[in-house]
Amino acid sequence: MARITAGLASSHVPLLGVASDFGKDRDDYFGPIFAGYDWTREWEKAEKPDVVILVYNDHASAFDMKIIPTFAIGCGERYTSADEGWGPRPVPDVEGHPDLAWHIAQSLILDEFDMTIINEMDVDHGLTVPLSMMFDKPAAWPCKVIPLAVNVVTYPPPSGNRCWALGEAIAKAVASFPEELNVQVWGTGGMSHQLQGARAGLINREWDNKFLDGMIGESDHLRYIPHIEYLRETGSEGIEMVMWLIMRGALGKKTRLLHRHYHVPCSNTAIGHLVLRPDNGEGFDMTGSAAAAAA
Ligand code: DHB
Ligand code: FE
Repeated sequence: MARITAGLASSHVPLLGVASDFGKDRDDYFGPIFAGYDWTREWEKAEKPDVVILVYNDHASAFDMKIIPTFAIGCGERYTSADEGWGPRPVPDVEGHPDLAWHIAQSLILDEFDMTIINEMDVDHGLTVPLSMMFDKPAAWPCKVIPLAVNVVTYPPPSGNRCWALGEAIAKAVASFPEELNVQVWGTGGMSHQLQGARAGLINREWDNKFLDGMIGESDHLRYIPHIEYLRETGSEGIEMVMWLIMRGALGKKTRLLHRHYHVPCSNTAIGHLVLRPDNGEGFDMTGSAAAAAA
């Protein structure tokens, strides 16, 4: 049986991809940011996930104003790095897991989450930057990746509550896949940032840290934060944090913190990073709603 053993959250600032690609990741500016991922890079070498379900948003690379899927799942064999205007990042292709991805798509759609199925697309910084942060610069990414794209770019994005429920449905789907697979779910984007307009550069450390606190333990209050609060407190791009709630929902009732990192500034953004275990006091097993749903 496949099982979700951990959830990771991380910002996906494109400048971190530039720093990694141009060898600037240990300079005075980027050093403290990348240092917060050293623990995770070592831990991932021991964890060896088979598959990462990587929740991210496309930034007008694969999708544009012609098509705006709310939730899309990548069922393809592989994905190449998107050209975001300065050439594709020099990172390995991302290998998919079509069997698990189609299984999840079927389970989600029959569970009434109307997913868009993507067989071919390029993946932008939203997906490749978190891979660089967790795995550095390998010749090939050490695991397969199922991209799960969420619209947080064009209003209206999905609610936090819907994202959390999608995470619960993903946990149920993974638990019913017969192959033994070590699966992680990553939620990316955020934290507070606004890239345009009068409030460009907005950062809210206090709110971000309360959000980080809320991801840990048993409370599910984060799922009820309304869009307007993200906009007001965390800037126009802070809404990316609803993607973290898909990961959180997939971990079940309670989580245990393994690692936490927060740093300001990174480009225009407050960097946040978490490593969480699903926690029922007995190792990796799911608890609460995810376990109940899987039963
Ligand atoms: C920045 C952050 C993002 O999340 C993004 O998608 C693009 C740019 C930034 O801080 O520069
Ligand atoms: Fe972004």
